[in-house]
Parts: sequence; C-alpha cells; structure tokens
Amino acid sequence: MAVERTFSILKPDATERNLTGAINAMIEKAGLRIVAQKRVRITKEQAEQFYSVHKARPFFGELVEFMISAPVVVQVLEGEGAIAKYRDVMGATDPSKAADGTIRKTHAKSIGENSVHGSDSPENAAIEISQFFSGNEIVG
Ligand code: CMP
Repeated sequence: MAVERTFSILKPDATERNLTGAINAMIEKAGLRIVAQKRVRITKEQAEQFYSVHKARPFFGELVEFMISAPVVVQVLEGEGAIAKYRDVMGATDPSKAADGTIRKTHAKSIGENSVHGSDSPENAAIEISQFFSGNEIVG
C-alpha cells in the first residue's frame, strides 16, 4: 500500500478537555506519524471555507460556531493507507455508532462535538492540508 498523507483536526471539545496527548497517542499507536502539527484558533471565514461542502446542511451554522469556540490542533498524518487508516482510528462520525477502541467512541461527546476530523479522500486531503500548512512546515 502506498504511503499517504491525511489532514486531521483535534476539535475544540478535545483541546478544551486537554486530550491532545491522549488522542495523539492513539494516532501514533495505530502506526500513523504526525509530520506537522500546530495549535491554532481558526477564524469564522476559515471554518466556513473548510466546511463549505456542508453549507446547505441544517447543522452548518452550529458546526462553524463550534469550530471557532476554542483552539484546535491541525495536523498532517503520514503512513501506509493513511486516509482510510485514520478514518478507522477515528470511528464513525456519531460516537454512539463508533466501534470500541476508536477515538470517537473513547472521547467524543456527540455527533457535533466529535473530537476529530479526518480527510475522506486523497483529493480532499491535499486541499485540506494546503488550507493550513505550507510545504516546508511538513517534515516527514
Ligand atoms: P467532520 O468529520 O469534521 O465533518 C463534518 C462534521 O459535521 C462532522 O465531522 C460532524 O462533527 C458534523 N456533523 C455531522 N452531522 C451533524 C449533525 N447532525 N449535527 C451536528 N453536527 C454534525
């Protein structure tokens, strides 16, 4: 399997509960390497742009407000099949449906406050990484 990069966000519900280290340990235990990472407060415009695919959904406003409510940690993860692997490690979007041992089953509070985001395709991974990192910030 090819080595890939995926984009990850540790969301406000995770940073507020001081779970950065606990979640990073789950990421690394799964064999993914954190090759870039920064803690930032994203702007409303950045959140709206990042989630623009969900613009028409009823939860869009709530999602944007949540993502700007506290700092987030944005990351680039690298590894074999990193995109699918991280989605496995995160678990289902709705934590009540997530498998045991996944980040969302272990830590998420609700479908909205679900602790982590991960890219869903190679195309979106490239777009999402470029929204937050320049090439020389990613050290593999
Ligand atoms: P994420 O993987 O970041 O991508 C889109 C996000 O929208 C998703 O995680 C959830 O946090 C959020 N989301 C999806 N469905 C709902 C919902 N019904 N109510 C609130 N937020 C939602």
